[in-house]
Amino acid sequence: MPRPVTLTYLVSPTAPEVAQAAAQLFTDAATKAVAARGRARIAISGGSTPKAMFALLADPAQPFLSAISWDKLFLYWVDERCVPPTDAESNYRMTNEVLLSKVPLAADHIFRMEGELEPEVAAARYESTIRNSFKLEGAETPTFDLILLGMGDDGHTASLFPHTEGLENITHIVIPNHVPQKDTWRITLTFPVIDQGREVAFLIEGPAKAQVLSDVFTGPYEYETYPSQLIRPASGKLTLLLDSAAASKLPAPDANTHTGTLELK
Ligand code: 6PG
Repeated sequence: MPRPVTLTYLVSPTAPEVAQAAAQLFTDAATKAVAARGRARIAISGGSTPKAMFALLADPAQPFLSAISWDKLFLYWVDERCVPPTDAESNYRMTNEVLLSKVPLAADHIFRMEGELEPEVAAARYESTIRNSFKLEGAETPTFDLILLGMGDDGHTASLFPHTEGLENITHIVIPNHVPQKDTWRITLTFPVIDQGREVAFLIEGPAKAQVLSDVFTGPYEYETYPSQLIRPASGKLTLLLDSAAASKLPAPDANTHTGTLELK
């Protein structure tokens, strides 16, 4: 049975305001981690939604660039497409264009999934990279300070797509996952690793996500159909940063705080 979790969703009127809230959440998590442990280890997703947030982090006119201790930040990916880093589909390429090329984050603080390699090889190498970076021993798994997720309109998150083998893997940190519906391979963190994040947040925007959001978080537990339901953080907390369009089929948030909560049983 899934772990009970308190879901908190913050609803912003428009997508740019969601990006602002997400940039603030990223900055706060990084600051908190550095204060507590001397470093911040954050895993980010790709797709299109996080692009605006990444641009805000890199924008000198915004407060985030100067607030983040980039020399103490270590950046990882939640998932990657099995393509070269120069490919238009590459999550790394998008992140490099809008963020990495514009901020003082050292190359040895950036841990790229090598999408250009064979899926099995890329996954094994990234698992080894994480083990070394987190100095893990034996069966230990990594605890990221923040894991930022997106959600597809099919209810997938990371590269955990409906009815794919990756949903059942609880023995690895990183896996290759074949996605028949896209006729492609992906590299992805497994859901137990995501659930171990100190803070886990979804960034979801747009009317196309409204129904699936409602199905995932208020409908019956059917994780094979809605893999995002696998995300039940061990912390007992899960955050959604939404725009009004995506949140339109959830219970209305508090009119003053623009925040809603749901107890996921
Ligand atoms: C990816 C992402 C994926 C993404 C969702 C939502 O590699 O595509 O990691 O999980 O978060 O597909 O994508 P959008 O933000 O483009 O809707």
